[in-house]
Amino acid sequence: MKIGILGAGSMGAALGKLWAALGHEVCFGVRQPVGEKTAKRLSALGSSVRTGSLEAAAQFGDAVLIAVPWEATEKVVRSLAGHLVGKVLIDCTNPISPDLSGLIIGHSTSAAEEIARWAPQANVVKCFNTVGAGGLHDARYGDHSAAVFVCGDDEAANKMVTHLAEGIGFEVIDAGPLAEARYIEPLALLWIHLAMRGKYGSKIAVKLLRR
Ligand SMILES: NC(=O)c1ccc[n+]([C@@H]2O[C@H](COP(=O)([O-])OP(=O)(O)OC[C@H]3O[C@@H](n4cnc5c(N)ncnc54)[C@H](OP(=O)(O)O)[C@@H]3O)[C@@H](O)[C@H]2O)c1
Repeated sequence: MKIGILGAGSMGAALGKLWAALGHEVCFGVRQPVGEKTAKRLSALGSSVRTGSLEAAAQFGDAVLIAVPWEATEKVVRSLAGHLVGKVLIDCTNPISPDLSGLIIGHSTSAAEEIARWAPQANVVKCFNTVGAGGLHDARYGDHSAAVFVCGDDEAANKMVTHLAEGIGFEVIDAGPLAEARYIEPLALLWIHLAMRGKYGSKIAVKLLRR
């Protein structure tokens, strides 16, 4: 699959590296495609990934991951909306304040729904926002696989993201339509507080048990 990744920070780089290792074609979209910082960062991701502008990555991917800070998300998505028509737009963002204390939006909307408003012809799918970037490379916890939640309004798009998440070892919880992101995003804030402000550390993951 061709995957464009907007942002080569902690989340973008970790997911891009894993998908490239599975044989997917990955193109990172960054603000400064040329330069020492980008070259250094991307050399660590393997020779098979390519780098270009944000526009180039949006054009490249059949699926496009948005992995920039929340405060940059609206500008990036709106500016690329024309390149995202008919594409699967994977949203791993969390609309949190820069000091991680709380959600900036929630209850009656979500980051995922706002992104769908800014790119109305993309098929937005929420996923990966409840997993720490440092834990993406190994979803196994003893006998269990950590869970990620997938929600979105297009069944084929949800299936594509499910395939990408299962490919890197996660159990996928089908959370239903995109509006369920209103409840998945607060869960990520709980993860952040437990991992970074509480006593549990950043190697924790979410699991859904049932019988
Ligand atoms: N880190 C985690 O464990 C984690 C887990 C779940 C979800 N998330 C969510 O994932 C998203 C990305 O988080 P992250 O930790 O990967 O962030 P990060 O490490 O700070 O990386 C952010 C990336 O976005 C780029 N960027 C920043 N501002 C931009 C702008 N105005 N226009 C274009 N690109 C811009 C940065 O580029 P430069 O290098 O050029 O600055 C960088 O490549 C966030 O919404 C976060 O809430 C993070």
